[in-house]
Amino acid sequence: MTRPLRIALTKGRLEKDTVGMLEQLGYDCTQVREKGRRLILPIGDGSIECVLAKANDVITYVEHGVCDLGVVGKDTILEMQGKFYELLDLGFGRCKFALAVKKGTDFYSGYGVKTIASKYPNVTRRFFEAKGMDVDIVKIEGSVELAPLLELSDGIVDIVETGTTLKENGLEVYEDVCPISARLIANSVSMKLRQSEIETLVTKIERYFENKEET
Ligand code: PRP
Repeated sequence: MTRPLRIALTKGRLEKDTVGMLEQLGYDCTQVREKGRRLILPIGDGSIECVLAKANDVITYVEHGVCDLGVVGKDTILEMQGKFYELLDLGFGRCKFALAVKKGTDFYSGYGVKTIASKYPNVTRRFFEAKGMDVDIVKIEGSVELAPLLELSDGIVDIVETGTTLKENGLEVYEDVCPISARLIANSVSMKLRQSEIETLVTKIERYFENKEET
């Protein structure tokens, strides 16, 4: 017997938004809502199951084909890259990557090589490479806003959603890098072997968005 179509969801807010969308599509997500500490949960009649994982791991599981589909932020996709298909922009989880600095700083003034702190060194490197600008990048794991406050860096490249974290720490957006939202990704082999199941789900999601736009 073939296993259910397996979809990896990024735990947390994207998981909640995805479950909300799947319920709107008519899938019973009671088990996910009442998951306790379980990590693999059936959806609807059990022909789909979801796997709850951290964002980077969603990509790893989809790339390796142990999950057919995944819901993950464009931020993680841009940082990790990898071999998979990006099928849909799901529209939720909207935020942006931005270069932020201490309030009032003129980032591009002066000649010295700037230091940038980020949880996203690859995104940061490509952003400055595109400008032909040489920068030192320091990888930080969390609360990257600390780096300029502690004078470790001249700026940060990070996710900005409401802007509250920057504001409350005396920082401001200096330049937008790119917009971010949740994406539906697929393993390339699954796209062939489970084409009709994936297409059915993708079509339902597309119709859901079309109807949403009309209302
Ligand atoms: C992100 C980001 C900022 C914050 C921005 O962190 O790194 O710190 O959200 O949100 P805001 O503009 O609405 O204030 P997140 O909360 O995802 O935590 P993390 O440090 O674990 O990534």
